[in-house]
Amino acid sequence: MSNDSPLSKIQNPKSKIGEGSAPGKVILCGEHAVVYGQPALAAPVSGVQANVTAQAHLDARCSSAGLQVVSRNLEGFDPAERQRIQQRLWAVADRVKAMLTPPTPTLPYNEGEGIEMPNDMLITIDSTIPIERGLGSGAAIGVAMIRACATYLGLDLSDADVSAMAYETEKLHHGTPSGIDNTVVAYNQPVYFVRGQAIELLRVGAPLHLLVADSGTRGSTANIVSGVRQRRDTDPSAYDALFGQIGDISRKARAVVKSGDVKRLGELFDNNQRLLEQIGVSSPALERLCTAARAAGALGAKLSGAGLGGNMIALITPHTKAAVRAALLAAGAVAVIETVIEETT
Ligand code: PMV
Repeated sequence: MSNDSPLSKIQNPKSKIGEGSAPGKVILCGEHAVVYGQPALAAPVSGVQANVTAQAHLDARCSSAGLQVVSRNLEGFDPAERQRIQQRLWAVADRVKAMLTPPTPTLPYNEGEGIEMPNDMLITIDSTIPIERGLGSGAAIGVAMIRACATYLGLDLSDADVSAMAYETEKLHHGTPSGIDNTVVAYNQPVYFVRGQAIELLRVGAPLHLLVADSGTRGSTANIVSGVRQRRDTDPSAYDALFGQIGDISRKARAVVKSGDVKRLGELFDNNQRLLEQIGVSSPALERLCTAARAAGALGAKLSGAGLGGNMIALITPHTKAAVRAALLAAGAVAVIETVIEETT
């Protein structure tokens, strides 16, 4: 093997295995309306993570681009769903490979380290982010995979590069994503997001304590977003008015999060939930959880993400945490996790 062949470089111990990780996320306000240009707020959830490794692995040809993708987290899926998800992961890996493969003049290869992704790669995904539950699993896997492959290749990508590439992988999951998921996950910071505009990091005046409760059913974001689009197309003025009201909530929430007025933020969550019910993306299970959380002392509660299943969030204080968690479990939540959005300086 000649010294400058790709395989000689793969065997360089420094670049032998690439690792990348990314957190889950919650949308605080503005989902769905964000697709139509309204602002939305989102924050990372570090208690759940996608971890990905990338390494050379001869005989790994499985995807069309010669990649093998192993996901350790598909228990609980029936064989047909497992295959659907596996095929999507191959497509994501192929897209990542195509985006990272030279000649790509914009990529910051370190001198002497830029190598083409070999044809036989093993990409291993280990993720604790529940799939299709509105917690950003697809975006996190995309971001973690891009980081793992970039590290493997000796590429130093900025968060902006990673986010832009993950947006391309998001299209494979969602068709027409707003870009909020890849942004919050790649930057790993709370964001105020408007489609097509420069990212604005959210200023947080006081810690926000949230419980994130899983309603127990999955929702396909692509189908839910396309259902909203169909309903909007039949009644544009009604839907645009609802999206506008949701946008107002996000703008108010940005100010309230900055001032640290958590009580007012709770009211905005409740108002946002009512509007999400009107656009037809809530469900009886999600509403049961929201009602139970409020009755147990939550300051506000709403679904988070695409809806029609998946997760809801309840804004709590350390004092109400135990009661709200118990109420959520009693009302049918299959899992409850806590996340804190820390005060920014
Ligand atoms: O991926 P999810 O389920 O968190 O939903 C993303 C949020 C939507 O606003 C519904 C879609 C989008 O692309 O912003």
